[in-house]
Amino acid sequence: MSIRIGILTSGGDCPGLNAAIRGVARAAYQTLDAEIVGIRAGYRGLIDGDYQVMQQSQFSGILTMGGTILGTSRTPFRNMRVVEEDNVDKVHAMKMNYRAMRLDCLVTLGGNGTHKTANLLAKEGLNVIGLPKTIDNDIFGTDFTFGFHTAVDIATDVIDRIHTTAASHSRCMVIEIMGNKAGWLTLYAGLAGGADVILLPEIPYDINKVARVIDERARLNKNFTIIAVAEGAITVEEAAMKRKEREAAQKEYEFRHVSQRVAAALERLTGVESRTVIPGHMQRGGSPCAYDRVLSTQFGVHAARLIKEGRFGLTVALKNGTIGENKLSDVAGVPKPVNPEDQVVKAARDINVSFGD
Ligand code: F6P
Repeated sequence: MSIRIGILTSGGDCPGLNAAIRGVARAAYQTLDAEIVGIRAGYRGLIDGDYQVMQQSQFSGILTMGGTILGTSRTPFRNMRVVEEDNVDKVHAMKMNYRAMRLDCLVTLGGNGTHKTANLLAKEGLNVIGLPKTIDNDIFGTDFTFGFHTAVDIATDVIDRIHTTAASHSRCMVIEIMGNKAGWLTLYAGLAGGADVILLPEIPYDINKVARVIDERARLNKNFTIIAVAEGAITVEEAAMKRKEREAAQKEYEFRHVSQRVAAALERLTGVESRTVIPGHMQRGGSPCAYDRVLSTQFGVHAARLIKEGRFGLTVALKNGTIGENKLSDVAGVPKPVNPEDQVVKAARDINVSFGD
């Protein structure tokens, strides 16, 4: 008897989603009598019953493609139980559509929000398996998520290119890297790109200490400074505020982006001309790097193995370099911030990279 597998991609896209979809599909066709149902635009498609039964050929030629062939959307977990203007009970609709699609299981590719909803659906009795994707690498229980290494490569390339123009103009260049709550991407790209200062949400910074780095470099005849700042980096003063108070204060700022605030303050404090660079969604675009192609494929293959074994309520993970899985209920919604004592942070400090603290 054939097994019907639903697949959806939810939340912000990232390179490697198609490679993972392909991994699930190819392994499922290879090892099971599988039929694959592609659900469009994440949980939105599951709520609305928007899906198509996929042909094997649709999984060809997608290994290197960025984005997701299934489309994605953000359907916030906090609203899943809320009946909004459309009067749809979303959880009920997802369960009904799972049945209407005659699914035996559902594979959800996504980040923290996606995992929370996957866990909710598992608790509601559906057979769910998660695959951890995000350029933020902030999913608990896995060494890495797919998409992360590609984004590190892209952000590193930006920092590399900025070096020459920074040196030519004797400027301070502030590069804002994605990551609102977690600074993994900024940490890795900052270290790989040779940034002099790395500012993370997890290590509040003192702008005066950052200014001192520029002064000290000038004293050593180093005429430029490269600063990698995570979009969610906060000052020591902001860290002392309650979240609501901080958000209210941030709304009043002259500049919306942290890189703009950092550059303006540094120019004022040091007199060194400063510029900002925000690569933004470029960090989520394009073809996955080789590492992510391999990881996505391994994750996809492991999901098919779990389906074959009839094991659900799990999410695939890389643990100490080995592919395995975690219970959705153990990891859903658990953040994975950068630990200020992390080995990578320590290595950066040992080569005199400043975290502004
Ligand atoms: O979670 C991935 C991420 O790229 C974050 O780094 C960033 O803060 C956010 O998504 C941006 O989201 P959106 O695509 O909605 O602009």
